[in-house]
Amino acid sequence: MKNNSKDPEHHFHSSWTFSKLMAFFFLLLSISYLFYSLRFVSFSYKCDQNQNTHISITHVSDTTTTTTTSEVVKLERGTEKEQAFEETNISHIVFGIGASAKLWKQRKEYIKLWWRPNEMRGIVWLEQKVENESNDENLLPPLKISEDTSRFKYKNPKGHRSAIRISRIVSETLRLGMENVRWFVMGDDDTVFVTENLVKVLQKYDHNQFYYIGSSSESHLQNIYFSYNMAYGGGGFAISYPLALALEKMQDRCIQRYPGLYGSDDRIQACMSELGVPLTKEKGFHQFDVHGSLFGLLAAHPLTPLVSLHHLDLVEPIFPNMTRVHALKQLKVPIKLDPAGIMQQSICYDSTHKWTISVSWGYAVQIFRGIFSAREMEMPARTFINWYKRADYTAYPFNTRPVSRHVCQKPFVYHMSTALYDKGKNETMSLYVRTQENPACNWKMADPTQIRMVELHKKPDPHLWDKSPRRNCCRVQRTKKKGTMVIDVGECRENEVIEL
Ligand SMILES: *[C@@H]1O[C@H](CO)[C@@H](O)[C@H](O)[C@H]1NC(C)=O
Ligand SMILES: *[C@@H]1O[C@H](CO)[C@@H](O)[C@H](O)[C@H]1NC(C)=O
Ligand SMILES: *[C@@H]1O[C@H](CO)[C@@H](O)[C@H](O)[C@H]1NC(C)=O
Ligand SMILES: *[C@@H]1O[C@H](CO)[C@@H](O)[C@H](O)[C@H]1NC(C)=O
Repeated sequence: MKNNSKDPEHHFHSSWTFSKLMAFFFLLLSISYLFYSLRFVSFSYKCDQNQNTHISITHVSDTTTTTTTSEVVKLERGTEKEQAFEETNISHIVFGIGASAKLWKQRKEYIKLWWRPNEMRGIVWLEQKVENESNDENLLPPLKISEDTSRFKYKNPKGHRSAIRISRIVSETLRLGMENVRWFVMGDDDTVFVTENLVKVLQKYDHNQFYYIGSSSESHLQNIYFSYNMAYGGGGFAISYPLALALEKMQDRCIQRYPGLYGSDDRIQACMSELGVPLTKEKGFHQFDVHGSLFGLLAAHPLTPLVSLHHLDLVEPIFPNMTRVHALKQLKVPIKLDPAGIMQQSICYDSTHKWTISVSWGYAVQIFRGIFSAREMEMPARTFINWYKRADYTAYPFNTRPVSRHVCQKPFVYHMSTALYDKGKNETMSLYVRTQENPACNWKMADPTQIRMVELHKKPDPHLWDKSPRRNCCRVQRTKKKGTMVIDVGECRENEVIEL
């Protein structure tokens, strides 16, 4: 009861202060309005005194801003929307390829693998003239000779001063003044791009802002020596147009501040650091600072589009029994059918045989005796050795797993041999064949030796990377085909989990 009687009192009190407050507020408002209008009076008074032109300009501009700000905003929004709608495509990218005359004859074959002369724009920058082979002109970007850089200081005892020339490719390419450029993408002459995926990755970012996009090395030590904040040049990196513009203005001064650095990419990173722009990491750019076989890395690619491959001269050919260039040509077949899906991993079990299956779409399939967990299978097997040619499991800035020594745990490996598209079913069919015999094993479980070939069915999924990243699922299908395993790969169904 007491509370009840207190309440109205309290109420009254508060409402009384409220009305007082309101009155005060209105008073304040009218005073400020008065001052505001007085300001106008004095302003117009000033107007009369000043020369007409000046006044009318300020006045007109004043009114126009007030009346048309909304219009301007609308307009800006409109163009923004249009620009957002006009998704980045291959025509917005300009490539700057760093090359050397000495290696040109063999390296140009890598560029021919991915270059599409009528669709792409870019320049190969060389230090001197090279022999012009007649057919090349239609298969390669135009060649240009870089500016002389002998005036720059270079004091690294181990590196080569061509680093300065390569580093300046961004600025030299920008100065060519090409139109409608959103991104400059740098690469080496031995970098192979999956350009559809490059476009897909760049579409995620606003090209009107400052972006420096690429990835680190596979070598932890290299990343310590250079920087974890550096985009490795061989893996390729992208610089948005406005950032390239800002870089161009200061790059020559910046380069002079770092004569002791080793390469071209650390010089870029030093300037990025001065500009205050961090590296935006995209794991699909691959520097491949390793030796040996890339198989482990390519069979368990991170869940991100494959953008580039590099150091292809140093590692083994990606498909066995082929030249390096031929092996990459082989990979172009599935890339053409479903670029988003290339080398994407899926993991499943053959429940009748108790086998684990790991698919790297368009590249390879592995069958393991026994059941391995998904978290093990998504780790790359160390089929490679580190940059310093040592087998060292601590050498990498990511998890790896050992290659099993036990004869029975050695996976059965099938490499992609053909891939085609069935228009009627809107489905790709890719075949994987075994090229190596596995050692004899005395386990009493089912033996995959009988499986000579794996047949994968998968719908192309151009929107794969528009969704949150998730591994595809795979399912072993029943088949009457002898010696063939048939697998379906695709988006996971509801409640589909990798379990036996
Ligand atoms: C790329 O986008 C532009 C619009 O910005 C458009 O005019 C052009 O046709 C597109 N090119 C391709 C190859 O899709
Ligand atoms: C190659 O030949 C073309 C004409 O055939 C010429 O325009 C171009 O400058 C030559 N390039 C080099 C690097 O010599
Ligand atoms: C590999 O190439 C050699 C020589 O060209 C050939 O004899 C052999 O059959 C090939 N092996 C496979 C598995 O294709
Ligand atoms: C094929 O299927 C994919 C995935 O369902 C779809 O995105 C694509 O549009 C289809 N293509 C055709 C030609 O029907």
